[in-house]
Amino acid sequence: MNVHPIPTTLTKTILPPTYSYTTLIMAESSTNSLPLQDRVAIVTGASRGIGRAIALHLASLGAKLLINYASNSAQAHSVAAQINTPSALRAVTFQADISHPDQVKSLFDAAESAFNSPVHIFVNSAAVLDAKYPTLAHTTLEDFDRTFSVNARGAFLCCREAANRIKRGGGGRIICLTASLVAALIPKYGAYTASKAAVEAMVKILAKELKGTGITANAVAPGAVATDMFYAGKTEETVKKLVEECPLGRLGEADDVAPVVGFLASDAGEWVNGQIIRVNGGCV
Ligand SMILES: NC(=O)c1ccc[n+]([C@@H]2O[C@H](COP(=O)([O-])OP(=O)(O)OC[C@H]3O[C@@H](n4cnc5c(N)ncnc54)[C@H](OP(=O)(O)O)[C@@H]3O)[C@@H](O)[C@H]2O)c1
Repeated sequence: MNVHPIPTTLTKTILPPTYSYTTLIMAESSTNSLPLQDRVAIVTGASRGIGRAIALHLASLGAKLLINYASNSAQAHSVAAQINTPSALRAVTFQADISHPDQVKSLFDAAESAFNSPVHIFVNSAAVLDAKYPTLAHTTLEDFDRTFSVNARGAFLCCREAANRIKRGGGGRIICLTASLVAALIPKYGAYTASKAAVEAMVKILAKELKGTGITANAVAPGAVATDMFYAGKTEETVKKLVEECPLGRLGEADDVAPVVGFLASDAGEWVNGQIIRVNGGCV
């Protein structure tokens, strides 16, 4: 490793002139065992799929987790059980529908009281997809409203609560899951894609509005990822075609997405702010 003197005018922390990057890295690794040690994170839609992988990954980085779910309590409890140890409560579960403002508020109340700490990291992974894949001409008002209620209104309620309650002064993170479909604009995903486009616009504006708080806001936009949402209503031929179209020749896994969220949540990810990170193996 190259050792360079640190120009003190360029570092956030003023160090004695004899310090080098090597010294800094060694000092950091001996005092900070894990990048998210004891930070409190809420992950919505963490009972299954990508949200579950994100919750487990953030826990592996040292965070304490509130595992949100809509109805699958058994799966949410099993995620928490993988994180908790007999001697340490590091994960709790909480049922809340993110399209209801009171329930979103309760998510934060529950996390703060469970861990006796403000929330540092908020990840909104909960969403729904109309597995009938209708064209816009055949999308019912009911299906459009349900999609927007969870995906756009839910993300708005989460972002609003997070913007008001996440810890100020460094380490605050808001990360919304959107979709590479916003760039791909494929037919038959109209309402879903539009709902995610709304979230991407909100996140970019939110990052600017949070100026001075030290909180960053970003979106992670996966391509096809092998989860219940992806497989719902798709034929084997459709799945095969999507695999063939991908430069890496496979579907994404939830574990392909979780480390990107982990990086954004960490101090190392601070300079990425107001961005949409598309994570799709080169498909889009
Ligand atoms: N999978 C893909 O190919 C793909 C591609 C691009 C983007 N994404 C995005 O990635 C995120 C995760 O997708 P996924 O594939 O992991 O989905 P998934 O497997 O269908 O899981 C959805 C999760 O959201 C929860 N949920 C649904 N409605 C909710 C509500 N109203 N309030 C609270 N929680 C709710 C579910 O809880 P229950 O278990 O209790 O039902 C579940 O935990 C979504 O934002 C999705 O749009 C996915």
